[in-house]
Amino acid sequence: MRLVLATDAQKTERDAVTYVEWGPPLTREGYAAREQRLRAHPWARAGMQTWLLCDEAGGVLASCETFRTRSLLRAGEGPPVPGDSFAIASVFTEERLRGHGYATRMMDLLVTELRRAPHAQAALLFSDVGVPLYRRSGYREVPAWNWTLAPEPGDPAALVEGLLGETDLERALARARAPERPFSLWPTAAQVDWHLERERIYSEQLGRPRPEACGATVGGSTALWTLMGRYGVLVLLWLDARSAQDAAALLGAAQRVAHRAGASRVEVWEEPDTAPLLARVPGATRGPRDGSLPMLQALRPGVLLSEDLPIARALWV
Ligand SMILES: CC(C)(COP(=O)(O)OP(=O)(O)OC[C@H]1O[C@@H](n2cnc3c(N)ncnc32)[C@H](O)[C@@H]1OP(=O)(O)O)[C@@H](O)C(=O)NCCC(=O)NCCS
Repeated sequence: MRLVLATDAQKTERDAVTYVEWGPPLTREGYAAREQRLRAHPWARAGMQTWLLCDEAGGVLASCETFRTRSLLRAGEGPPVPGDSFAIASVFTEERLRGHGYATRMMDLLVTELRRAPHAQAALLFSDVGVPLYRRSGYREVPAWNWTLAPEPGDPAALVEGLLGETDLERALARARAPERPFSLWPTAAQVDWHLERERIYSEQLGRPRPEACGATVGGSTALWTLMGRYGVLVLLWLDARSAQDAAALLGAAQRVAHRAGASRVEVWEEPDTAPLLARVPGATRGPRDGSLPMLQALRPGVLLSEDLPIARALWV
């Protein structure tokens, strides 16, 4: 068995095979168009690869994708060193081929491959199938909790300084404080826009109105969000809140945007820094995350992946 990079034709063939898992409620044609469009997005063009585990005759046994994701490594007291981490998505084995260890073999070969990248720091994935499968290949999970809020009627801009649009992403992320941890995963504006591209695609294909804003600011605090068109849920992609009041104001804006966009709820991924603030947001309820469980492994010595590593929803692929 060997791991190879898919050609464009092979990527399209995989789209047809993975439709059953990730396609509906889009049509087959709609899903194929979604995949083409997401691959054409600047963030994907800059660092997305599709991998195939093949048998000796070239038959495809399993597949997955990797997205190059910015990360920062601090060595001692020096400034952080930017590097590449790799977020793994769409791990897939056709039903008829399951249970033969192909996904595990692919993940094992992939980590060897990723370690060869010159600036490799860590590999990251979001498991929808629990943790045992990926633990076998060296990944370790970090705690995954969600906070949920109900949409609220009202003027989205009330109680915040401003709403953010899709041309504000660079400026919004630049407001964040540089991370002081030994290692951090740090999304770019292009990566956040890739989430908005998903929103655009679902909105067009399902005829769903897009939210009127994709974020808000108050004081030094910033939030970015997207509507997950497939589920009608507004998810916070990024929450940099400096106080419980700021968190409440930003989430209030998200709740009002969600209401106007017809979303069923607002979802926030808990991070170590935001947990105590979210606990003080009126109406927010906490529960274990169902799926999308972040799991990581280091790709080089010196990358310390602590249990309290913040994983922003913007990093999800
Ligand atoms: C998950 C998947 C990739 C596993 O592929 P595979 O080639 O059969 O994987 P392996 O043979 O290496 O390992 C199979 C193990 O995965 C486990 N597994 C598969 N699907 C699972 C699920 N939905 N929940 C929990 N465990 C699951 C199996 O129970 C099996 O465990 P065991 O060996 O202890 O019995 C495949 O089932 C698949 O494509 N599923 C649909 C897409 C999907 O959910 N992908 C994962 C996204 S994170």
